Amino acid sequence: MCGIIGYIGPKNATETMLSCLQSLEYRGYDSWGLAVNTENGIAFVKEVGKIGAVSSVSALPKSSVGIGHTRWATHGRVTRANAHPHFSNNKKIAVVHNGIIENFQAQKKFLTQQGFKFYSDTDTEIIPNTIEYHMRRGYDFVEAAKRSLNHLEGQYAIVALHADEDQDQLIAIRKEAPLVIGMGKEENEFFVASDVPAFLDHTKKVIFLEEQDLAIINRKLTIFNLSKNIEVHRKIENIGWDPVQAKKGNFDHFFMKEVAEQAEIIERVVNIDKVLIKEIADEMRKAQGVIFVACGSAAHACLSGVYTLASVAKMHANFYFAHEFKNFKKFLTPESLVIAISQSGETADTLDAIRVAKSCGAKTISITNTFGSSLSRESHRTIIERAGPEICVLSTKTYTAQLAVLTLLAYELAGKMDEGVAKLKELIRYIYYLTSEEVRKFIKKIAENLRYTEHLYLIGRDLQYPTALEAALKIKEVTYIHAEAFAGGELKHGVIALIVHGTPCIVFTSEKNEREIISNAMELKARGAYIIGVGPNNNEAFDVWIKVREDEEANSICQIIPMQLLAYQLAILRGCDPDKPRNLAKSVTVK
Ligand code: AGP
Repeated sequence: MCGIIGYIGPKNATETMLSCLQSLEYRGYDSWGLAVNTENGIAFVKEVGKIGAVSSVSALPKSSVGIGHTRWATHGRVTRANAHPHFSNNKKIAVVHNGIIENFQAQKKFLTQQGFKFYSDTDTEIIPNTIEYHMRRGYDFVEAAKRSLNHLEGQYAIVALHADEDQDQLIAIRKEAPLVIGMGKEENEFFVASDVPAFLDHTKKVIFLEEQDLAIINRKLTIFNLSKNIEVHRKIENIGWDPVQAKKGNFDHFFMKEVAEQAEIIERVVNIDKVLIKEIADEMRKAQGVIFVACGSAAHACLSGVYTLASVAKMHANFYFAHEFKNFKKFLTPESLVIAISQSGETADTLDAIRVAKSCGAKTISITNTFGSSLSRESHRTIIERAGPEICVLSTKTYTAQLAVLTLLAYELAGKMDEGVAKLKELIRYIYYLTSEEVRKFIKKIAENLRYTEHLYLIGRDLQYPTALEAALKIKEVTYIHAEAFAGGELKHGVIALIVHGTPCIVFTSEKNEREIISNAMELKARGAYIIGVGPNNNEAFDVWIKVREDEEANSICQIIPMQLLAYQLAILRGCDPDKPRNLAKSVTVK
C-alpha cells in the first residue's frame, strides 16, 4: 500500500526520485520522504501529506544514489516521525519498506534490550536496527541484511542503503510485496520500485523480482534467491505501456482520463488472443466447480461474471470475497478451478486466496491488468486485461475490462465466440457516446442535485445488482457519501425502513426485469424517495432518467459508466480528490 523507489546512476538522485515518487502516489499519500547518500553521510527529507510544494527537497545535496517512499499508514499515525525512510540508531543505514512486519513488537523488544532506541511507532524502524545489530556482530551490510530477514515475519518489499559501505549501493528484497527493477538507459543506471509507472519515463526494460529475491545494485546488478540460496538470473521484460498512458494528458484528473479510455480498452480486450480465451474456457468447462475470488471492484466484476456465465453459457460458478475464501477451502479438490481477478495483481487477500486454492491442489487462473504481477506469476494461467496503467485509486477502466473479458469467456463457453466479439465491438461506439462531453454535462446537473446528500441507496436485480454494488462503491470511496446498494428484491425485507421523504435512490433497470424493479421503484416513490432511473426506458416513477440503451449482458459495462461520471462530478462538487481519496490506496498489498 506504499510506494517505494530506489535510484542509482548518473542523474541527480533527488530530482529523479521525486518525480518517480509522484508517479507512485496512487499507492499511498499520507506522507513521503527521500534519503540520499553523500560523502558526509545520509541526507534526508520527510514531509506529511502529498508531494506538493517540494521546497524542502532543495536542501538535499546532490547525490547519485538514494531511496524514497510515499506512505499509506499501517502502523503508526500520519506524522513526520513515522514517515519513511527510517534509520538505524547509528544513522548509517536508511530503509524504505512496503508491507507489514507482523512480529515487529517482539523484535522491537529484543532490540530495546540490546540498547537500541526507537523514534517512531512504525514496524519498519526495526529493519535498519536489526541490520545494525548484525553489523555490530561483524557482518557486512549485505550479510547483515540477509541475516536480518530471519527475524522478520510478514510481507515486505525493502530498499536500503548504507552510508559507508560502498556508498553507491542499494539492496532490495521482496517477500509477498511487489518490487521491480528498471534497467536505466544510462550506463550503470538502475531504478527499483514498487511498480512500473514509477520509472516508465526513464525505461521500459524491467526485471520483476521473484519471491525471496535479494538484489544488490552497485553499478551492476546481482540477484540472489534467498529461499534457494543461489545467485539467479531474472529475465529482462519489455513493458508495452507508453509513458504517456501513465500521465493525465489534457484531463484534470486520472479518474476522468481513465473513464474516457474505456471504449478504446474494450477494443483492446476484443483483440485478446482467442486461443488463450478458448484454452481458459476449456479449463472452466473441464473443472468440477468454478470459483471466483476478488476484492472491491474486482469482486463486483466476479459477481457480474457469475450472472453472465449463468445466462449466456448456462454455467454454474460461485463467487467468494478473497478474504473469506479460506473458510470454504474444505470443498476444494484438484478438479476445482479458482479464478482470481485483480487489476493490480498484488492485493494481499487475493494472493492469499490463490495460495489457499493451490495448497488444496486446485487449478488457478488469474485475470489481471498488471503484467509480471505476483498474481500472474503465482497462477497456472493468466489473462492480461490490457487496460494500460490505471493511476486513479478508483478502478474504472480495469473494471469494465474485466467485465469484457468475462463476457468473452461466457460466449466462448456457449460456443458463440464470434457473437461475443461482435457484441463487444458494437459497444465501442456507444461507450464513446457515454463518455462524451454531452453525457458528462447531463450527469453534472444530476450531481448538483445530490451535492449535499448524506445517504444514497442503489438497487438492481439480476445483472443490475452487481452494477448497483459497483456504483455504490464508486460513489462512497470518492465522495464520502454513505452509498449503499441492495438487490431490488431485498427492499421489503427491511431495507425500505431507511427511506424517508427525499431520500435519493438510483434504480437500475433492464428489459428483462423491468416490471419487478419498477414495482420496487414505485414502493420507494410511495415513501417519498427521489428516484434516478438508469436503463433503456423512462418511467413515471423516475424523477430523473439516465438513458442507457438495452445491451442485455453488456448492460453491466454500459450502465456503470454514467455512475463513474456521477461519482467524479460529485467528488469535484464536494471538494474531494478524485484520484487520491482519503484513507485509500490503489493496491491493498497488506491484509
Ligand atoms: C475500487 O475502486 C477500489 N480501488 C478497490 O475496491 C479495488 O477494486 C480493490 O482494492 C481490488 O483491487 P485489485 O483489483 O487490484 O485487486
